[in-house]
Amino acid sequence: MNMASFSPTLLKSNGSSLTSAKMMTMNRITSSSSSPPPVKTSIPSQSTSLPIRSIPGSYGLPLLGPFVDRLDYSWFQGSDDFFRKRIEKNQSTVFRTNVPPSFPFFLANPNVVAVLDCKSFAHMFDMELVDKKNILVGDFMPSTKFTGDRRVCAYLDTTEPQHEQIKSFVMDILKRSSTIWIPTLTTLLDKMFDTIESQLPSGPVNYLVPIQKFNFSFLSRVIAGANPENSPDMAENGYVRMGRWLAVQILPTVPITAFQPLVEIFLHSFPYPFFLVSNDYNKLYEFLEKEGKDVISRGQTEFNLSKEDVIHNLLFTLGFNAYGGFTIFFPSLLSALGSATPDVREKLRQEVREKTGSGGLTFRAVNEMELVQSFVYETLRLNPPVPLQYGRARKDFNLSSHESVFNVKKGELLCGYQPLVMKDPKIFDGPESFIADRFTDKGKELLTYLYWSNGPQNGTTSVSNKQCAGKDFVTLTASLFLAYLFMRYDSVAIVDGSFSVLEKAK
Ligand code: HEM
Repeated sequence: MNMASFSPTLLKSNGSSLTSAKMMTMNRITSSSSSPPPVKTSIPSQSTSLPIRSIPGSYGLPLLGPFVDRLDYSWFQGSDDFFRKRIEKNQSTVFRTNVPPSFPFFLANPNVVAVLDCKSFAHMFDMELVDKKNILVGDFMPSTKFTGDRRVCAYLDTTEPQHEQIKSFVMDILKRSSTIWIPTLTTLLDKMFDTIESQLPSGPVNYLVPIQKFNFSFLSRVIAGANPENSPDMAENGYVRMGRWLAVQILPTVPITAFQPLVEIFLHSFPYPFFLVSNDYNKLYEFLEKEGKDVISRGQTEFNLSKEDVIHNLLFTLGFNAYGGFTIFFPSLLSALGSATPDVREKLRQEVREKTGSGGLTFRAVNEMELVQSFVYETLRLNPPVPLQYGRARKDFNLSSHESVFNVKKGELLCGYQPLVMKDPKIFDGPESFIADRFTDKGKELLTYLYWSNGPQNGTTSVSNKQCAGKDFVTLTASLFLAYLFMRYDSVAIVDGSFSVLEKAK
């Protein structure tokens, strides 16, 4: 798919296929026992002559406005309610507001234009309209000390030559490592589930730490070709070191409604200095330098990157992008499975057993598992692991929501909050319900509106856009993970982040 197909015009041109996909979600498998809300069958209005409106909302008084919004966002309302209440107040999914971090010790400008429906959000995929330089987590950027005194790929705009160089390198790593994904995944899952099973007789086993260890080990091997087992420190503490380095960078932007006002004062008022995690970072760097030699030398010889550029970028991709993403995503996948009805689980199990047959777990088998893949997509729709995306207007342009057209000025920062965008009622029927087979059959057309990777799920990641380099790797790995679970077990029960029953396949 070329850049033009990412453009918001896509949303206008295929209204009819969207409607048929919406209608297909009627009578679908819901994953909870409560019945889904009534499903709309009318064609959403895709009028091209929308009224022009000035962007509603305001930034409030200097310092005070951002401060009040910050308290609402992080404390009094939480992020979901923060955006919902402002949609209601402004009677618009596009409006002006402030987002943290802000006052007193952040230099970041908290003023943004929120874009909270699928149509307005999609403008951020059009690289002619938005600049993505240094705005991975908004106007606030963690110090480059965290990334070896350089701006790594995720902070580069597509107009910067290094973006193409590094992103091609990352995409090449994934392509080349595809032969070891399945054997590495199954070997490490065997190990993880053997351990969990041995602990089950003493009661439910929490899966958070096992998943973090698994992620660190699996991703280090497939992304960097580095085996943590070769380093006693990494085998034992690698995932903790990675987690600390990650947390210290993003803490100022993560809303935590508990333990207030302490969180506001101590976690959200100033950026944390790098020295707190420099030891962790240096150890991770040394590990990659020693164990990831093949991948590093390819980055140098084939992509013309310096050794330092390769290792710092590799570390960021492995730690921030991949480890960070999967550490949020896998627990939410398991939690969705825990809430699924017995009927959904049985259908998943049947599909997995039927498609794996005597051939076992292969890419071909997983590609044929429509329900498994749809379950993965629906989890990403309702729990997008990276909730916020930003884009800075390169020029003045007209931005459309479903209802109106707004004039955005060059330099303004667009801010999309995916958890609400992915519940756009004009696109998704029963938007709040988990519908396991939403993305099967005709429902596959809805993949155009699944945005967790900063682009449509059926779009193409490339060096000329900012879509996640691991888009297909992520959904495939999650589908393999689910398939593995249903091959190994006849029955799985998950309660409050723990496995309580794992009944081996007979
Ligand atoms: C569940 C796991 C993952 C999630 C949720 C995720 C999500 C994202 C998102 C939302 C972005 C866009 C950020 C923005 O610009 O606003 C992104 C970018 C990126 N991701 Fe992922 N990602 C995941 C896994 C991976 C993996 C496994 C890799 C590679 C091995 C990867 C590599 C990248 C890279 C290199 C970028 C920057 C793209 C660019 O600069 O053009 N990600 N990811």
